[in-house]
Amino acid sequence: MSRIIMGIESSCDETGVGLVRLHDDGTVDLLADEVASSVDQHARFGGVVPEVASRAHLEAMVPTANRAFEKADLKLSDVDAIAVTAGPGLAGALLVGVSAAKAYAAALGVPLYGVNHLAGHIAVDTLQHGPLPKPCLALLVSGGHTQLLRVDDIATTITELGSTVDDAAGEAYDKVARVLGLPYPGGPPIDKAAKQGDPRAIAFPRGMTGPRDAKFDFSFSGLKTAVARWVEGAERRGEDIPVNDVAASFQEAVADVLTAKAVRAAKESGIGTLVISGGVAANSRLSELARERCEAAGIELRVPRPRLCTDNGAMIAALGAHVVAAGVRESTLDISANPALPVHVVSV
Ligand code: KG4
Ligand code: ZN
Repeated sequence: MSRIIMGIESSCDETGVGLVRLHDDGTVDLLADEVASSVDQHARFGGVVPEVASRAHLEAMVPTANRAFEKADLKLSDVDAIAVTAGPGLAGALLVGVSAAKAYAAALGVPLYGVNHLAGHIAVDTLQHGPLPKPCLALLVSGGHTQLLRVDDIATTITELGSTVDDAAGEAYDKVARVLGLPYPGGPPIDKAAKQGDPRAIAFPRGMTGPRDAKFDFSFSGLKTAVARWVEGAERRGEDIPVNDVAASFQEAVADVLTAKAVRAAKESGIGTLVISGGVAANSRLSELARERCEAAGIELRVPRPRLCTDNGAMIAALGAHVVAAGVRESTLDISANPALPVHVVSV
């Protein structure tokens, strides 16, 4: 008998509600994936304003859930379990989702599972490409996180191999976009501008790639500063900024470091599959270079479609389904949001 899992996401600026069907053989089908974004309300600040995000979640939560049930042609009473992002993320934003999930779980009399947002970004790939091989490697690149992870079991066992020591990859995109006068969030406009530019025009630094640097850690703060200095220098000399070339050269530096480290980690650990997910996985050059390098190294590459890569409720429903299938104990109704939930804690 299959089970319906509802997933609720509210860790940042996207209110997401997803519905999936968990089959007896452990496979999971996507039934609905509704997202309400408050990104437009943050654009003029150049970054997410936590209080604004929390208020937007509060207003969007129930309408988004209702839309998901309509899309899936299901009723609330069809739900067998509820999964919700318990962390990491913005405290106030997380609380809205956790409170909503508790209310739904209590009202429906179904189990509640507080789960990890980062693991959700990986689990979502199973909705498109089927079960994950055990083990696999995951490169998680979003606005808030840049991590290289070994995934032995998506429901229970994730180990961090490395992470950023300063800015996240997406954060670097957003900051460089600002320097170039491009809109927020910076990923999509830089991706677009870079297509018209020369990636070899400017040799920007590759952070943390020296012989004494931690092999699987990342740093993007120096790159961001190098771009800002380069643009300031050109402005001082009264030159026009070659936005497309700067975007392409910056993007090349990011994609180069991310893919080089991920492929090296896969090779050194003898793992044959790499999953790239999170908002920055939507980047065209990152997936192109990853494809080239994985092919050369004989590694299978899995990148979920862009809509699944950015924050959504389906990723939480998918992770919830795997947690339920693994027989993990349910959460108690007194769980709280944990803004700093570490990545190895898949469920709370
Ligand atoms: O995963 P996500 O939706 O939210 C977080 O959990 O942070 O990621 C958002 C980030 C933003 O920094 C945005 O600039 C970046 O993903 N992004 C991209 C692209 N699309 C979104 N970065 C590079 N290229 C893109 N095409
Ligand atoms: Zn995310």
